[in-house]
Amino acid sequence: MADVRCFINGKEHIVPLTLPATTTLNEYLRETVGLKGTKVMCHEAGCGCCAVTVTHATPESDRLETYSVQSCVTPLYAVDGWQINTIEGIGSQKKGLHPIQERVAKFNGTQCGYCTPGVVMNMYGLLHQKPKITAQEVEDNFDGNICRCTGYRPILDAMKSFANDGNIPGCEAIDIEDLNKNLCPKTGETCQGKCTRRLDVQVNGARWYRPVTLAELGKLMTDYKDKKIRPVFGNTSTGIYKKGGLCDAYFDMRGVKELYSFEATSTTIRLGAATTLTHVIERLKAHQEKPGFSYLSEVCKHLKVVANVMVRNTACIGGNLMVKYWHHEFPSDVFTLLECAGANLEIYDTASGQKSITPILDLLTKLKMGDKVLTAIILPSLADNVHYKSFKVTPRWQNAHAYVNAAFGIPVDGLTIKGRPSLVLGGISANTIHATKTEDFLANKTLSIGVIKEAFALIRDELKPTESPLETSAKYRKDLAGGLLYKVLLGLHKSRGSKVWSGPNDLHRPLSSGIQTFQEMSHEFPLKRAGPKMDAAVQASGEAVYVNDMPKVQNELYAAFTLADVASATIESLDASEALKLPGVTHFLSAKDIIGENHYKFGGNLFDMPQHEVFASKEVYYNGQPLCLILAETQSAANEGAKRVKVTYSEIRPPVLTIEESLAKDMEFKHVRKTVVVGEPDEAWSTVDHTVEGTIRMGSQYHFYMETQVSLAVPSEDGIDLYSSTQYSDMCHHAAAQIIGKPFNYINITVPRIGGGFGGKSFDPALLSSAATLAAYISDRPVRLNLDLNSNIRICGKRPPFVAKYKAGFNNDGAVQVVDIDFASDIGFTDQGHILTIDAATYMDMSYFVPNWHWVGRSMKTNKKSVQPVRAPGAVPSALIIESIMEHVAKALDKHPMRIKEINLYQNGHKDIYGHILQNCTLKEVWQRLKDVAEIEGRLKQVDNFNRENTWKKRAISMTACKHGIQFYGPGFGATVSIFCRDGSVAITQGGVEMGQGLYTKVAQGVAYVLGISLDNIKVRPMQGISSPNSSITGASVVSESSMQAAIKAAEILKERMRPIREKFPDANWKELCMKCDANKIDLSARSFNKHELFDHPVFNYNTYAAAATETEVDILTGESQIRRVDIMADYGESLNPVIDIGQTEGAFVMGLGNFLIEDTKFDMETGRILSDGTWNYKPPTSKDIPIDWRIHLLPNTPNPSGIRSSKACGEPPISLSTGVLLANKLALEYARQELFGKKDFIPVDAPFTPEKAHQSVGINESILMM
Ligand SMILES: Cc1cc2nc3c(=O)[nH]c(=O)nc-3n(C[C@H](O)[C@H](O)[C@H](O)COP(=O)(O)OP(=O)(O)OC[C@H]3O[C@@H](n4cnc5c(N)ncnc54)[C@H](O)[C@@H]3O)c2cc1C
Ligand code: FES
Ligand code: FES
Repeated sequence: MADVRCFINGKEHIVPLTLPATTTLNEYLRETVGLKGTKVMCHEAGCGCCAVTVTHATPESDRLETYSVQSCVTPLYAVDGWQINTIEGIGSQKKGLHPIQERVAKFNGTQCGYCTPGVVMNMYGLLHQKPKITAQEVEDNFDGNICRCTGYRPILDAMKSFANDGNIPGCEAIDIEDLNKNLCPKTGETCQGKCTRRLDVQVNGARWYRPVTLAELGKLMTDYKDKKIRPVFGNTSTGIYKKGGLCDAYFDMRGVKELYSFEATSTTIRLGAATTLTHVIERLKAHQEKPGFSYLSEVCKHLKVVANVMVRNTACIGGNLMVKYWHHEFPSDVFTLLECAGANLEIYDTASGQKSITPILDLLTKLKMGDKVLTAIILPSLADNVHYKSFKVTPRWQNAHAYVNAAFGIPVDGLTIKGRPSLVLGGISANTIHATKTEDFLANKTLSIGVIKEAFALIRDELKPTESPLETSAKYRKDLAGGLLYKVLLGLHKSRGSKVWSGPNDLHRPLSSGIQTFQEMSHEFPLKRAGPKMDAAVQASGEAVYVNDMPKVQNELYAAFTLADVASATIESLDASEALKLPGVTHFLSAKDIIGENHYKFGGNLFDMPQHEVFASKEVYYNGQPLCLILAETQSAANEGAKRVKVTYSEIRPPVLTIEESLAKDMEFKHVRKTVVVGEPDEAWSTVDHTVEGTIRMGSQYHFYMETQVSLAVPSEDGIDLYSSTQYSDMCHHAAAQIIGKPFNYINITVPRIGGGFGGKSFDPALLSSAATLAAYISDRPVRLNLDLNSNIRICGKRPPFVAKYKAGFNNDGAVQVVDIDFASDIGFTDQGHILTIDAATYMDMSYFVPNWHWVGRSMKTNKKSVQPVRAPGAVPSALIIESIMEHVAKALDKHPMRIKEINLYQNGHKDIYGHILQNCTLKEVWQRLKDVAEIEGRLKQVDNFNRENTWKKRAISMTACKHGIQFYGPGFGATVSIFCRDGSVAITQGGVEMGQGLYTKVAQGVAYVLGISLDNIKVRPMQGISSPNSSITGASVVSESSMQAAIKAAEILKERMRPIREKFPDANWKELCMKCDANKIDLSARSFNKHELFDHPVFNYNTYAAAATETEVDILTGESQIRRVDIMADYGESLNPVIDIGQTEGAFVMGLGNFLIEDTKFDMETGRILSDGTWNYKPPTSKDIPIDWRIHLLPNTPNPSGIRSSKACGEPPISLSTGVLLANKLALEYARQELFGKKDFIPVDAPFTPEKAHQSVGINESILMM
């Protein structure tokens, strides 16, 4: 067979054989075919934005199957004979949207839109697999699509509208149209799904085979026995273990029929090794009712939380076990489950051509698999008395590998263990499989509380978990093993006491739901109308163009940075000779090549901050710092070249990576210390009845925008056309001009929509823009510089971690009188991040009136990248600190924290920390209304009852509040509104950047309102430097409103110009009016500027107020938790578009819960390298981490006298409310400590409050176990 063919969106493609064997389907679709609707971000099968559907015949079923996959791990040459559908194929604006695209747009399931094509295609695959689906199936299907913007609720609602049992109003199930032509690449006839083609092609640098029999596969493996080979099935393991390198030959096993066999007898089930995990679940489910196989229901339940739907669709069970074989430390759930069941493997020895059966354990202890094929897995029936139970404890609800997984098979008769139990654990160490001593101990024991306690102690004692910065602590994993064993033993005791009844059970997550209530202002429509985003359709159809989607420009070069692999060192030399020898590599650029200045200014025109080197010229300050740039004809050549640059350091110093060490070494940037004194704190201490003191810690958060940083610089006849994904075009503009020593007008910058920012595209994009501009200038060729996720995480700044020591003085009634805070923040290697320390001071009071404050903010130096703003950078730490102080006061007074908070809440007439008297403060009203709608008093009683009845599960409700000062910072924003006279259509360009916050929609709404025209007549065009020069950063929540106001003013200018003509022709329709204006020589384009001014407050224009009530439940034995219900009441004035503002609220809340519960950055303490640099180790929330029951209410009838058009900004404020998830969990754990140890102590706040920290804060030991 000499070619590789597939159908893409119904069109046949002959795949060129000139690409490397490691080319993925995604690379082919995007780079060769030019279908850029399919996005790419992680290359790890971990984010889902690259989803497409594939249809092909499998030897397994002899029929065609359609399912969704992540194209970023799908090998290109595996697609021979496949039909592939991408987002472009299923619908478009011209052809008409597919119902899935329509609904995701209609339900506001898009914000930045970068995840949307993947979301749509995953649903498309599901509807193909299951035309009749339930809402639960839909919800289960979205474990692999990360969306950082929306908070998932609207996506789930949109998709559940297709469910047969859905209760989403006005929607219905659809019949999915089969778009595939299903033509056989061999015959051109309709494919019957009965054959898979044999393949043998020489591709670039390797041979690609698809054998169709086991014997053929065996022969190939023998022929290549001295070469580097890779048998491949789903190829998903490359998402985890990337450093495989190129092989001589690849053997695609999908065609080997023998690998799919399935047989079930009364005593065994034989599963072909090539059975995908999705099919394994289906097959085993069908047999779980049979005698001896009831344990399969537990296996299936567990398999459903292995990886994510799209991985399970394409990854095979044999592949999973082989990953465990090659990497013993890999916490394979499949291995744990099968080993506990006593499964056997069927192995094919390619040398002898013989098959043998061997226990699965041999895979780790005896077998040498290099020349062998795993052909089948044989599951035995288990005796009726075997109690089989498995566990998986993870940092988030889905799509996460286990901290610890376990499967326990215990033969029992009543309370007596009959024989030896099987206790299998994963995630402990490469060599730990069974807890053998505990197995021995439990053999033939009759369960009593004494036996349970001993077993608990023994398993903790015998396990020796490997310590690694990426793992949870060894102690937690030992404790977890003990907790899980206790759960299973407790589960055997059918007559256990009622209080421990729920102990053995996992947390149960029912179907989620949401309610939103809001007010619209019909007299101002289309302003203040709850309408969909203007670009929702274009995002849903995949037609939205982001910088990296821009077509390849002729002669274009790709760029990649070489990064420092140490954190503190002096550079001796950079040697690029090996890199330059690589085919395709064209240039090497370092600090020495810079024509202008080797700097980009942090803060651009907003803050006069010290400058940051583009390429390190001598000193390295953090691991990941860019040292130089390699240019090449392809991205892979550039990446490889960048790796081959040899860096010699003359001195390497140990890095400083923690605040504690920085403090100990006196590394504070003292010149920027911020001290705030309010009232008379020194005197106040003597007047208070009580004091509390403590320490609060918070870690860092990566922005996790789905579109990584990217710049494209294209030389033009008289300058450089620069395209950047930035929130701050002016800073990129400046950096680009400066690096080549040219005036600003040499650079023509355009910012199309960006795929999420959250503050992370404020300052760092200037690094890319300047480097790409330099490269384009020197090479005189267009240069594209797009960071892969790992580099993006290594290079870019994140949310600053902090440690705050506090002391608070308060009266018997709980009124807090004085607070002292010593706040130390890790701002990285330059002092520029101190603006975020100042920002924290700006928000220190948040929602609570405290008359006396002493606040010291220290900016600590470490060997990390300078921090960047992340959504509400000042408010997040301050909210956590002050909310936590209130909770501590409550604990000291033995009151529910809510009671203390409401005593201290700000209200009208209070002076804020700036001495400003609050007017129009709705906080009390917001709080009280929230209490009412959320039925807090009644639910507190229910929580108390639940806690009284349950020892090992605890619930709590936390109420949190937000007074978020809104500042219209910087000079302001401008907008130009142009009317085209011949048809009256309107185009607007303005200075803000659309990143999902609905800016374009609000701008258009404002102009439509003023001109009295339909929104359909208006388009908002990308921001351009030439028409919106000197634009400040799009951030701090205010730019949608500000740009809208600028556009409104411009529209008002136009309206005024048109007024005489309108008066003359009162009956003219809009188009006629525009024609007549033009005929009367009226300029139909106007620009205006919304100047930012403060009025009666020194810092803020007004406050946005909101409050949340969060109910969570914690599993005390594991530390896992779930958010049962969240109610939010928010005062957004007269919202300019309530559904957009609710979208911002949900997105912010979920980003916050990630920060407070899940997301954790980990470093190698020796090299300073960030280890959590991808989706495998860094976990933003997924769709099942969100509240199960989520109700959002916008406070009606509260126009904001100080806001634009009576509105309030809302992009950042709600994130502070999500402190409630941490605080509710903490409260629940305090209830547990009180019950278990009689201690009424306060658990210190340490974010992210991961399951590990939650679990460890209780301090469970065997003495408190009960039956
Ligand atoms: C995002 C993500 C999340 C994941 N989460 C989990 C998780 O929570 N729990 C868990 O257990 N796993 C998890 N995994 C691992 C996943 O289950 C495996 O990647 C997958 O099962 C491998 O199957 P594959 O078909 O893609 O194998 P491939 O990647 O194609 O192959 C994997 C290895 O097995 C070899 N191989 C494959 N089949 C055979 C065979 N029959 N005989 C000999 N060698 C063979 C290959 O040569 C290769 O070395 C996750 C993976 C990803 C990408
Ligand atoms: S890019 Fe493919 S899953 Fe992230
Ligand atoms: S809309 Fe989902 S990531 Fe932006």
